Amino acid sequence: MPGHFQATRVMQEVRATVSREFEQVNQLIIDQLHSDVPMVENVGHYIVDAGGKRLRPLLVLLSASALGSCGPAHIKFAAIIEFIHTATLLHDDVVDISSLRRGRPTANAEFGNAPSVLVGDFLYTRAFQLMVQLGDMSILDHMADTTNTIAEGEVLQLARAGLADTSREQYLEVITRKTAILFAAACYGAASLSGAEPPLRQAMREFGLNLGIAFQMIDDVLDYEGDPATMGKNVGDDLTEGKTTLPLIHAMQEGSEAERTLIRDAITNRSASELNAIVQAVQGCGSLDYTRAQARHYHDLALARLQQLPANTWRSALERITHLSIHRDH
Ligand code: IPE
Ligand code: IPE
Ligand code: MG
Ligand code: MG
Repeated sequence: MPGHFQATRVMQEVRATVSREFEQVNQLIIDQLHSDVPMVENVGHYIVDAGGKRLRPLLVLLSASALGSCGPAHIKFAAIIEFIHTATLLHDDVVDISSLRRGRPTANAEFGNAPSVLVGDFLYTRAFQLMVQLGDMSILDHMADTTNTIAEGEVLQLARAGLADTSREQYLEVITRKTAILFAAACYGAASLSGAEPPLRQAMREFGLNLGIAFQMIDDVLDYEGDPATMGKNVGDDLTEGKTTLPLIHAMQEGSEAERTLIRDAITNRSASELNAIVQAVQGCGSLDYTRAQARHYHDLALARLQQLPANTWRSALERITHLSIHRDH
């Protein structure tokens, strides 16, 4: 697929602007997976070695570089952010009963739920050990709040699972908490470690927040129209989990009575058995296009915040990542 190759090329070019630092982050991630308990290393390496886009650490490195300094503290902070992200993935796949992640069986499918939860805890706590090493109380404070908010977001989503009457505002609250807040923390933390003034830190936080919202909206589109081979995760999972995401909210609002009932029942029963009919309804109602347009709105808000950075290679790279986040297929 030409689009796929182009996206891969853009990511390579973006990574090339911070290649040395990116290598250091990857090395630190490997080093910090070390444990005397073999199961920790086995499960940890299983998910880490599968790769992933490493988008969040990249945001840290690019934000720092755009602000004029990317040093050892940023490298460490980038690894911390990826550890937290990876911990949430291990936990999320247990909760969502997902079977495919990063092109492989999920850790829960491969090792079971208990090892996934416990090694997720290891990664979470390792992230906090590294944060203490940073010795920056304001970062520790910000990350304690961030991880707490992510946990609340996942619980909020769980509490609303199977509820078809979820509003657009409730959806937005869930995705802000579960996903966007970590993007925001990556960019805010990078600016903070660079010694940026509070208004600039705030602009970077808002950049990350809006980018994260756009990113999750596209994730929710891909759950209906993505290609599992490209994405490395299954389509239709959201329906099985009874997640009332924006494409479904829109289709229930715009669709016929029959379409509304079809979607309502699937959410309530947490069943993907009617996935094909639902994909058709969601496409027929223009709901994937609508969700993409909404993602573009948040993409625009994110780009506007970037204007506060000095114009340089790394700001351009951040702009390209933002663009890619809404034009991605994985
Ligand atoms: C997956 O994040 C979880 C969401 C917030 C949708 P990514 O799509 O960044 O996952 P990896 O790290 O590249 O596998
Ligand atoms: C991802 O939510 C958010 C977190 C991991 C905290 P999803 O459940 O939508 O992500 P995928 O689709 O499993 O990657
Ligand atoms: Mg999930
Ligand atoms: Mg998803």
